[in-house]
Amino acid sequence: MDSSDKIRAADPASLQVVKYPDPRLREICTPVETIDEPLIQLVEGMWRLMLDSRGVGLAAPQVGVTVRLFAASPSFSPDDLQVYINPRIIEASGTIEEEEGCLSFPLIYTKVKRSAVVVVEALDLEGNTFQETCVDLHSRIIQHELDHLDGRLLVDRMGAVSKIANRRALKELEAQFNSA
Ligand code: NI
Repeated sequence: MDSSDKIRAADPASLQVVKYPDPRLREICTPVETIDEPLIQLVEGMWRLMLDSRGVGLAAPQVGVTVRLFAASPSFSPDDLQVYINPRIIEASGTIEEEEGCLSFPLIYTKVKRSAVVVVEALDLEGNTFQETCVDLHSRIIQHELDHLDGRLLVDRMGAVSKIANRRALKELEAQFNSA
């Protein structure tokens, strides 16, 4: 399926967060080819779901649509809704370790090392290329959501200690998935 078929297969009015260990979270996502009405509807649905879920970022594979885009709102505000289509990091510097969560891993938090500053390049909803220099939480969101587009998850970024600390919660998610 190309990106347009994947987008048209989703119902933007009834999106749900896909949870670990759903295999859709492991796919390498497809680049977006066309920015059209179905894509805009998907993004608007993702913004709603992200705010309702009290998240600051949500990648398309987390709603089961394995294409390269993600939503963000670093200030967690309906006035600050962002979308990054076909994003890539073109510069990264520094290292910083902070606690991180993920809507696909409810109740799990782990320290993750990330670049302190990133410059991201992406398309907006008008199809224009933009670049942004991101720091603090914004920088962390960009790197976390970009990981999602390559099938890389919070569990892959966990250190050994955190894996042990979160072992029960991870097992619980696996059991819930297998019984669904
Ligand atoms: Ni996530």
